[in-house]
Amino acid sequence: MHIKHLSLSNFRNYSTLELSLSPGVNLLVGRNGQGKTNLAEAIFYCATLSSHRVSGYIPLIKHHQDKAVIRLLAGFEERENQIELELNSVGSNRARINRSETTRVRDVLGLVNTVIFSPEDLDIVKRDPANRRAFIDDLLVQMTPRLAGVFSDYDRVLKQRNTLLKTSRNLPSNSPGLDTLAAWDDSLVKLGTEIISFRQELIQRISDPLLAAYQAIADEKNNPSIKYRSSLTVNTLVEIDSEAGDFLLSADRSEIEKLFREKLALLKPKELERGITLVGPHRDDLVLFLGEFPAKGYVSHGESWSYALALKLASAKLLKAESRAGDPILILDDVFAELDSTRRSRLAELVSDNEQVIITAAVSDDVPVALHAHRLAVTSGTVEVQND
Ligand SMILES: Nc1ncnc2c1ncn2[C@@H]1O[C@H](COP(=O)(O)OP(=O)(O)OP(=O)(O)O)[C@@H](O)[C@H]1O
Ligand SMILES: [Mg+2]
Repeated sequence: MHIKHLSLSNFRNYSTLELSLSPGVNLLVGRNGQGKTNLAEAIFYCATLSSHRVSGYIPLIKHHQDKAVIRLLAGFEERENQIELELNSVGSNRARINRSETTRVRDVLGLVNTVIFSPEDLDIVKRDPANRRAFIDDLLVQMTPRLAGVFSDYDRVLKQRNTLLKTSRNLPSNSPGLDTLAAWDDSLVKLGTEIISFRQELIQRISDPLLAAYQAIADEKNNPSIKYRSSLTVNTLVEIDSEAGDFLLSADRSEIEKLFREKLALLKPKELERGITLVGPHRDDLVLFLGEFPAKGYVSHGESWSYALALKLASAKLLKAESRAGDPILILDDVFAELDSTRRSRLAELVSDNEQVIITAAVSDDVPVALHAHRLAVTSGTVEVQND
């Protein structure tokens, strides 16, 4: 799939923009702060309804404006889809697909697939469990759009259950006042089990493409692998890195559900003491191994880059396998400046046959010449074609 045209109105530092993009490589070059990442973000937002750098959408609306519009025309073979999103600072957001208003904004999910890689992705390897959960959950939603509903239902149930736990704080776990908690337990287990089993399946499916991508990009031939560290199987009351074992291996729903209920029953007194939900996918983590050691805390800076990049290239492989619209759009935001020349040329080779690649760089010399196909200059919220 590829994006043919992108229109913006009051999005970040763009007042209005009409931009045609080509299949193949589009290289956006411009000095710092001109609007390169903003363009990448607009495309990514249309595909996923999330930004790769902020949560929420308010920062996407241009300062002193109350509405931003992103419109993009995506094509695959003979088919075309126009997606339009209207982000409102007051009132709800709206979406149109091929000029018809959708019932819910999230109906646009699944129409455009993108994989973005940016320096922030190092956080997946180096930082907190929340970064790794966001990585796998965003990929899941792109592959199976209806999961967006499951995630938002889970978040709602979790919030309500936490509120109830707070108001029931320090009650004994068998008090009669806790009947409503049991109803929330059921929803938590049902939705949480679905999330965990989807994550487990994805971890299994990504393992081969991850290995292949890492070997293609990294200097040393080490083996990456992922294991699911779940609050269902480990003692969540102790510090995470202190135990290596106890990974959840099964993706079987009835098994996960059983473990979930057992753990919830076991931790209920603790939950009532602390007033928060201690078991569920919101407390889980993916442990990224390189060889036999977890990457976090062990690998070098360069290895973290290779790992993060391999996760994204593997995501693109899976999305392609799943989709009826070919390659996802690959966005490489500010990536080449950080890589050494060997990995620059390896990355260039790996992405060059993707149907569409969007690359941003402050300095065009950082990007291998083979990727200079369609060059665009970005200057304070305007874009100009530089060649062709
Ligand atoms: N909501 C907004 N309204 C107006 N301007 C904004 C808004 N959000 C961000 N900006 C501005 O947009 C400009 C461009 O940001 P962007 O992140 O796209 O830069 P960039 O070209 O990717 O730069 P770099 O090379 O440093 O990554 C910044 O100067 C920022 O202050
Ligand atoms: Mg940028």
